[in-house]
Amino acid sequence: MRVLGIETSCDETGLALYDTDSGLLAHAVYSQVELHAGFGGVVPELASRDHVQKTLPLARQVLAEAGLDSADIDGVAYTAGPGLVGALLVGAAIGRALAYAWGVPAVGVHHMEGHLLAPMLEEPAPQFPFVALLVSGGHTMLVEVDGVGRYRLLGESLDDAAGEAFDKTAKLLDLGYPGGPALAALAERGDPARFRFPRPMTDRPGLDFSFSGLKTFTLNTLREHGGAGAGKAERADIARAFEEAVVDTLAIKCRRALERTGLSRLVVAGGVGANARLRARLAEAASRMGAQVFYPRPVFCTDNGAMIAFAGSQRLIAGEREPLSFTALPRWSLESLEVPGL
Ligand code: KG4
Ligand code: ZN
Repeated sequence: MRVLGIETSCDETGLALYDTDSGLLAHAVYSQVELHAGFGGVVPELASRDHVQKTLPLARQVLAEAGLDSADIDGVAYTAGPGLVGALLVGAAIGRALAYAWGVPAVGVHHMEGHLLAPMLEEPAPQFPFVALLVSGGHTMLVEVDGVGRYRLLGESLDDAAGEAFDKTAKLLDLGYPGGPALAALAERGDPARFRFPRPMTDRPGLDFSFSGLKTFTLNTLREHGGAGAGKAERADIARAFEEAVVDTLAIKCRRALERTGLSRLVVAGGVGANARLRARLAEAASRMGAQVFYPRPVFCTDNGAMIAFAGSQRLIAGEREPLSFTALPRWSLESLEVPGL
């Protein structure tokens, strides 16, 4: 079955074609980062309008790259939530309409299910069951995954998501938007021994996270070292201390999640999964525990259409179908998903 995947939940337009027999055929991502950069964050209305302009040209592009035309497509999957409602509605309306016009089934996919199944696009793909750490701009979650649609939330952020904390801290350090990668680059030049930031909520049991206090801690440290006039070295040292604290906190909770579930496979997905220090720290922790860590390739860590095409294909082959109407769910619990085919 060949499935067209459409992702428009936030500020990336992602299109892809996935074949359940031969794997990924083509994918394309257009990032709106430049459109929003001047505003310091995503402007929802601008995001929706840009998705309107980019989705169909990118659909044509992936079809051409795969050497296929619409008659070769057996189903359409689009992100139905969670995300920005206007942005979601664009992908849902286009996806549903294409499926109707082509006479094929459509399915609305949960964005986080897309992220957590993304490592299955790689070789070797992780076997079920596994623990998934989902770390994006909007979410930080630890999930026990027994199979497609079988998700148990082990813990999540009570305030800022990890990526959001990176972005807000980067803003404090004048690194622009989105600041995660820029903060990570600055941290490379920082001295890890200069400052030690707290590892929030690691001194008590449980698998929830809280990152907003770290942002305040960073702000206070910056103020004590010159504020807006702080030098390059101070900023790099602060960036390093912040990154070490986030990465350590995530690694501690992942280790706990593996211990608590007795599982030995960890899947990491979402934009922060591209962070090199996080990858190194998780590799160390996993090797000490005899566990394995799986990642999607970097372009499939951030938002993309391939993960939606893949997750949608799993649901379509199990017989899941949307009615002719469509909905967008800005809030949508991962645990409320059903097991396809049941
Ligand atoms: O998954 P994603 O593309 O979008 C959401 O669904 O939110 O994640 C984007 C987030 C942003 O907050 C970005 O700053 C962060 O991932 N990010 C990083 C890195 N690359 C992207 N954070 C830390 N280090 C990185 N290398
Ligand atoms: Zn995402």
